[in-house]
Amino acid sequence: MSVTLEDPIEIGGLELDNRLYRAPLLEHAGNGEDAVEIMVNELEPSAEGGVGLIMQGAMPVRSGEGCAAPRMTFADDPEFVHGLSPVPEAVHRHGGHIFAQLGHGGIRSLETWHGGYRQRCRTTDSRQSPSCPGSGRWRTDSADGVRLNVLSTEEVYELADDIGQSARYAIEAGYDGIHIAGATMSIFQQFASPFYNNRDDEFGGSLSGRTRFFEVVHDAIRAEIGDRPLTTKVPAETEAPWWIRSHLSLADGIEICRMLEEFGYDAVVPVTETPFWDQSIIKGEFPERAWEDEQFEDGYAEAFGGELRYRVVKAAAKFSATGNEFEPGWNEEFCRRVRAHVDIPVLQVGGIRDREQIDRLLGSGACDMVGMGRPFYAEPRLAARILEDDTSEVLCENCNNCIPPQVTGATGICRTPEVLRQRGEQKKAGAYERDNDP
Ligand SMILES: Cc1cc2nc3c(=O)[nH]c(=O)nc-3n(C[C@H](O)[C@H](O)[C@H](O)COP(=O)(O)O)c2cc1C
Ligand code: SF4
Repeated sequence: MSVTLEDPIEIGGLELDNRLYRAPLLEHAGNGEDAVEIMVNELEPSAEGGVGLIMQGAMPVRSGEGCAAPRMTFADDPEFVHGLSPVPEAVHRHGGHIFAQLGHGGIRSLETWHGGYRQRCRTTDSRQSPSCPGSGRWRTDSADGVRLNVLSTEEVYELADDIGQSARYAIEAGYDGIHIAGATMSIFQQFASPFYNNRDDEFGGSLSGRTRFFEVVHDAIRAEIGDRPLTTKVPAETEAPWWIRSHLSLADGIEICRMLEEFGYDAVVPVTETPFWDQSIIKGEFPERAWEDEQFEDGYAEAFGGELRYRVVKAAAKFSATGNEFEPGWNEEFCRRVRAHVDIPVLQVGGIRDREQIDRLLGSGACDMVGMGRPFYAEPRLAARILEDDTSEVLCENCNNCIPPQVTGATGICRTPEVLRQRGEQKKAGAYERDNDP
């Protein structure tokens, strides 16, 4: 049966008003006294706009570990997580729903890549080795001079239990469900990927061994939150350059989704990527302007460990951008094929930009729900326009200027003046108002 954007949908027993969701975008809210205010300011407008579901940006489940970017919000202290309750309350006030996203950066953590963070660790004698599933293709215990802490079997179970605990704290705080940061080079992707995982215990070897981490995390979360909604992103590393022979194929990604349904996940978000933290996750232009913005230059040098390294990283980012130009709805084929193999909802994200495209994706059965990320930075109340006007197109230009400053801990906001000007015009014209606005 053909569905439309306005049709309700059920995920893990939770009914959502419509099929548009805000994809997870880091809030960089940290764990300070202003964390709640930052999150509410960022997420409440999306709920006001009428979006069916908000996936909050990833929260690492251990303090001082697994943090992929500066000023992420750790979710291991029950008192702190319970204190986030005004965030789901703000969303619920407008009839919306919100899932907390939980994750761990593994080898992508600050310990590996952030020069300033590593320097601070050295001076404060704190932990410097990122926990990860394996040393992968390097066949060594170091990357970039950083010692890796390859998790023992017992430590993998402990990490799963910690994720379960954080899930409970979030549900107790009023979040409607849990979304796992299963892709974007998170530790979940590193477990699943043959590029990283060279373990010889139950969490390595075959695809089912490499997917077992998703299973034990599922079980640990279920033990804590019962049948509340539980969803995850799922990677296929089909964008890997030709010289990376060992990676997750599309068939592997489909098989992982099938296994996740069997484990008991309530929905999946299939995404194609490389095995790296690069522009395959956020296809679009190379953000030259943001990389050259003087106000962030010192922050870039601090993050990458000096001016020279900042220039090298910038060049690598430029190279990555050449193979990852914007492509409308780039996960469509993956989602469509997953949907033919599972009965749980399949959520599509990545390059979804106008109402006509949304109607086609939902109407032709590519997916059950559509998500957008960057367009919500550009227009926090975007859902109002997309839901009210079936000729609407987002203002976001996929220029990616919002992204580089985030390595310095800067807030995730649209940084393109022309887009902000157009947003002002749309606002003046009443495009973000809804019939049920107070
Ligand atoms: C600044 C930024 C932060 C992101 N943070 C997360 C995150 O915390 N967790 C996650 O799963 N994906 C994250 N993503 C990926 C988005 O959820 C989404 O998959 C991606 O932006 C593609 O969708 P879009 O083309 O609509 O932006 C992030 C993307 C951006 C641009
Ligand atoms: S800076 Fe603005 S227009 Fe550019 S990608 Fe980010 S949100 Fe979109």
